[in-house]
Amino acid sequence: MIADTTMFLGKFLYYALESLVVNIIPKSKKDVAGEIVLITGAGSGLGRLLAMHFARLGAIVVLWDINQEANMETYRLAKEKGVKVFAYQCDCSSRKEIYRVADQVKEEVGDVTILINNAGIVTGKPFLDTPDHMVERSFYVNAISHFWTYKAFLPAMIKANHGHLVCMSSIAGMVGINGLSDYCASKFAAFGFAESLFFELSHIKENKIKTTIICPFFFNTGMFEGCITKYPFLLPIMEPEYVAQKVVNAILEEQVYLLLPRFAYVALFLKQIISPKMMLALGEYLGADRAMVSFKGRVKEDEPQTETKRKYH
Ligand SMILES: NC(=O)c1ccc[n+]([C@@H]2O[C@H](COP(=O)([O-])OP(=O)(O)OC[C@H]3O[C@@H](n4cnc5c(N)ncnc54)[C@H](O)[C@@H]3O)[C@@H](O)[C@H]2O)c1
Repeated sequence: MIADTTMFLGKFLYYALESLVVNIIPKSKKDVAGEIVLITGAGSGLGRLLAMHFARLGAIVVLWDINQEANMETYRLAKEKGVKVFAYQCDCSSRKEIYRVADQVKEEVGDVTILINNAGIVTGKPFLDTPDHMVERSFYVNAISHFWTYKAFLPAMIKANHGHLVCMSSIAGMVGINGLSDYCASKFAAFGFAESLFFELSHIKENKIKTTIICPFFFNTGMFEGCITKYPFLLPIMEPEYVAQKVVNAILEEQVYLLLPRFAYVALFLKQIISPKMMLALGEYLGADRAMVSFKGRVKEDEPQTETKRKYH
């Protein structure tokens, strides 16, 4: 017991000092030229921007999206960078389809070495207005698909002891937000899954497989069209290119967690130490309770508008 505790305290102190030093000196960035980078949800928003960044860095880029036309546009843009690009239509809500397309990738491209689980959807309605099938779909796309992509690509990473797993979660995967029940729950699930695997892999001897979990606040791609922020200087609605640069940087520097913007670290730290009533007051002050009031999202023309407005006014 004493030896164990002494050992723990020694390690704890050493790693505390190490993280201080690492935060001061500029970190080295890994070379991803020739790596096989698979991005789900590559047809628009962040996925497309990440594809462009990795193509610029000389990686072999594999694009997955349910929307074939949009994915082919990303393919065309990435191809202009002069690297190998592969595009596949894949509905990430389907386990069978993920396994089928993953087999195709392994055969036609090779073993994926950087897996970016980025595809995502949002319903954006108050809980009782959220159709059952959208609750299920949010979980399938935002969280359960990550289990199947890991199952498909992790074994080869373990065999080669080389790879990087990237999870696009959200601030909504760390704190509950009104009008986002299915989205928050699925993003919490994605976060929990990726963190659990991070710990599981860390216990493999000499493990070199990295994990990066990304938790951004809103950024301007259309997914959260209409959402508002009360204090943009604390919690700005970010530009997608800024987010993409930060994500790429976190991957190249092999950071485990990335929260965006910086104020998110403060808000989440406070969440752990204050009372629920203080938390409600903080949420109201930051406008979290009203962020979804004017949510439109990627509205389909024939889709009836959400009653979010009425419910929250
Ligand atoms: N935009 C934000 O404010 C924000 C904030 C935090 C986290 N995120 C997360 O970041 C990721 C990217 O978001 P974005 O803003 O670029 O969204 P986006 O809507 O621009 O892109 C999402 C992509 O996923 C694809 N997709 C949807 N369902 C799919 C399915 N079943 N199979 C395969 N592909 C599918 C879409 O076709 C689209 O190309 C998502 O996981 C999202 O939840 C976004």
